[in-house]
Amino acid sequence: MQNGTCETRPGGSCFASVEEVLDEETKQYVAEYSHGCMSPEQGGGLLQCKVGTMSPQIHGKSIICCDNENFCNRDLPLEFNPRTTTTEMPPVADTTTIYLTVICTVIFFIVAAFFAIARCIYYRRVKRKPGYLMNSLYNTTNGHLPIADLVEQSSGSGSGLPLLVQRTIAKQIQMVHSVGKGRYGEVWLAKWRDEKVAVKIFFTTEEASWFRETEIYQTVLMRNENILGFIAADIKGTGSWTQMLLITDYHELGSLHDYLQKRVLNPHMLKTLALSLASGVAHLHTEIFGTPGKPSIAHRDIKSKNILVKRNGQCAIADFGLAVKYTSESDEIQIAPNTRVGTRRYMAPEVLSETLDLKVFEGFKMADMYSVGLVFWEMARRCITTVRSAKNTTTCEDYALPYQDVVPSDPSFEDMYAVVCVKGVRPPIPQRWQDEDILVVLSKIMQECWHPSPAVRLTALRVKKTLVKLETDCTIKIV
Ligand SMILES: Nc1ncnc2c1ncn2[C@@H]1O[C@H](COP(=O)(O)OP(=O)(O)OP(=O)(O)O)[C@@H](O)[C@H]1O
Ligand SMILES: [Mg+2]
Repeated sequence: MQNGTCETRPGGSCFASVEEVLDEETKQYVAEYSHGCMSPEQGGGLLQCKVGTMSPQIHGKSIICCDNENFCNRDLPLEFNPRTTTTEMPPVADTTTIYLTVICTVIFFIVAAFFAIARCIYYRRVKRKPGYLMNSLYNTTNGHLPIADLVEQSSGSGSGLPLLVQRTIAKQIQMVHSVGKGRYGEVWLAKWRDEKVAVKIFFTTEEASWFRETEIYQTVLMRNENILGFIAADIKGTGSWTQMLLITDYHELGSLHDYLQKRVLNPHMLKTLALSLASGVAHLHTEIFGTPGKPSIAHRDIKSKNILVKRNGQCAIADFGLAVKYTSESDEIQIAPNTRVGTRRYMAPEVLSETLDLKVFEGFKMADMYSVGLVFWEMARRCITTVRSAKNTTTCEDYALPYQDVVPSDPSFEDMYAVVCVKGVRPPIPQRWQDEDILVVLSKIMQECWHPSPAVRLTALRVKKTLVKLETDCTIKIV
């Protein structure tokens, strides 16, 4: 070797190579180039040269060999891509650090979840407070909350709006016109902001009815789609003069009594009316155990005038001035301290004969079911069926009140007693009802409901289940 050059003999080879080496000072890898020759005894560096050509960048090294001319390794095209990493090894996390990180993350998520739940509960509570609802009543910037939303927000227990909110709504009501008068008060169509509501103004002598009705509507878990929606009650005045209001949802189709006089029903409409009535009564009659629980409630004045028809064709039961509550835990029947009795035409035989045991609550429910049977009869008469002899003609009976043809228009106790208890008369079942499934089922139900022996009568829940089954059977048939 002379002057930094080297020589080899035929069979040997020269090379140019580059290798990354660590610079101790800078802790960086730097490229170190070298040139040289290998003798034929070393195989001409065959092995190194082969490896260099097959995998030129292996481990930060590169080598190219030649043997074609003198100084052939001077300008060999060495390819070399330097590493980017420094010698500083990435810090290897020890197990303690990993554990700590995992524990901290878990704790963080638990605390975050706790705060999220607490926030949710807080806002729910705040929304139910009268203050929050009162703000909603006066809030004009975000628009007004509709009544349904107000009730929804406040009715955690399903018992209605707080009293302060009810009074405020009562003050903001604008009467529109009278829609009907009953024995205990007059019902008006009124407006609360843009919404229609019904306002019953009780006659001054009917304080007990107002009180009872208000109390029943505010019973926990009373709200149900087949019970008239209660909005507010208010009483004002001095000792000699009082005005008692009851504000409820308004149903433009009016009472079932009005509705059946003006319209006829197809079998589907009849089924909807009957099932929804049975559902409403079943909800009333059922005691719900637990906190909050609901007492069992008997209506005691079920009739077509006290049932409203909603736009979806379902019933909403109204008029609770006579209702009685019962809780099995205290085994106490809370009878309203009012003198009002039910409507004589719809009174069960045991009520007419005064044999109903006031100490047995089940008896009140069975008396309700007798009245439900009569209402089913009123509905069924208005359901059209095809006339057998003329296939394109339909028919139904005219609207009639139960016992209309056998008692006077405002029957006395004696009139009803003579017909229902002594003669054992019940409304007639027309032959044509055998031509339609729902009418066949409903005529059986009504006869079991108005059986003279209360113990034999169907319960509201049984009637509901039978009608629900009929609905599914029909669906299966259609499919
Ligand atoms: N929420 C309501 N929406 C629409 N109309 C109603 C509403 N409540 C009652 N009405 C109408 O007002 C009428 C009078 O009702 P009210 O309860 O005072 O008397 P009634 O049920 O006819 O007789 P009774 O005094 O024997 O119960 C009803 O027949 C019905 O047409
Ligand atoms: Mg009424």
